[in-house]
Amino acid sequence: MKGIILAGGKGTRLYPATLSISKQLLPVFDKPMIYYPLTTLMLGGIREVLVISTPRDLPMFRELLGSGEDFGISIDYAEQPEPNGLAEAFIIGERFIDGGPAALILGDNIYYGAGLGEKCRAGVRSAQGGGACIFAYQVEDPERYGVVTFDPATGTATSIEEKPAAPRSNWAVTGLYYYDEQVSEIARTLKPSPRGELEITDLNMAYLERGALTIERLGRGFAWLDTGTHESLQDAGAFIRTIEHRTGIKIACPEEVALDLGYIDASLVRQRARGLGRTGYADYLDRLASSVA
Ligand code: DAU
Repeated sequence: MKGIILAGGKGTRLYPATLSISKQLLPVFDKPMIYYPLTTLMLGGIREVLVISTPRDLPMFRELLGSGEDFGISIDYAEQPEPNGLAEAFIIGERFIDGGPAALILGDNIYYGAGLGEKCRAGVRSAQGGGACIFAYQVEDPERYGVVTFDPATGTATSIEEKPAAPRSNWAVTGLYYYDEQVSEIARTLKPSPRGELEITDLNMAYLERGALTIERLGRGFAWLDTGTHESLQDAGAFIRTIEHRTGIKIACPEEVALDLGYIDASLVRQRARGLGRTGYADYLDRLASSVA
């Protein structure tokens, strides 16, 4: 399956920090934000990735990630000139997807937890089998998100509402989505919402109405972190720092994921380390390479 990272938008809520740089390139503790969604896609077994961003920011994503060969994957790039909505990713990415199923992850979404890889692989399998698979997570401020309501008797989803003023549950739809091969066709039928965007919620509703939407709940063992405000961005960095310092294991290190999955070998990891100067990240890569050599 192919995967899209949507990393556009203006990042206005983080001005002035994002006046001249993409939000998704800002560091979350020790690495660029986009490493987190990239590794989440990779954990699901996705090796062909399209990064969509603004014409201004795309060159910097290219400089950072290149062809993807350092991570044993291929990375393509496409422009989204205006933030016309998340579902536009499947129109911009239609040629890349090439009539197959596809995943989408928002470039500012951070996932962490034991079994995340299995959840992602289940999402891939589900979409490959037909339909869509998305994830819900309990939050204190559901009015900021797409909100899903479940039938109390059967546990199946009954509705999804985008930023409802009076949320009917505290289950937010997270920014990771797996769809079957009909996704671009359905995205093309969507009309802009009152806020002028092609809403991912409308795409999900189209699958729900066809009885083709699976919603996986991410329980207590998972962290789904927000980076939308200065406070939440700092909180996310602190969370990553705490876990990394305690365990000595990095979260969202694409070279490590690629090595674990057998996409690259120790010599490439060592070569990467040499290009990263005298940093903790380079030392970490060297240790990884030695542990498998
Ligand atoms: O984070 C999960 C939420 O993402 C979902 O619960 C909502 O259903 C979904 O609509 C979306 O919520 P927001 O509308 O708040 O997303 P936001 O506009 O903040 O955009 C999410 C990221 O995607 C952000 O980093 C900017 C980027 N983006 C956004 C739009 C609208 C683009 O790259 N292109 C766009 O056209």
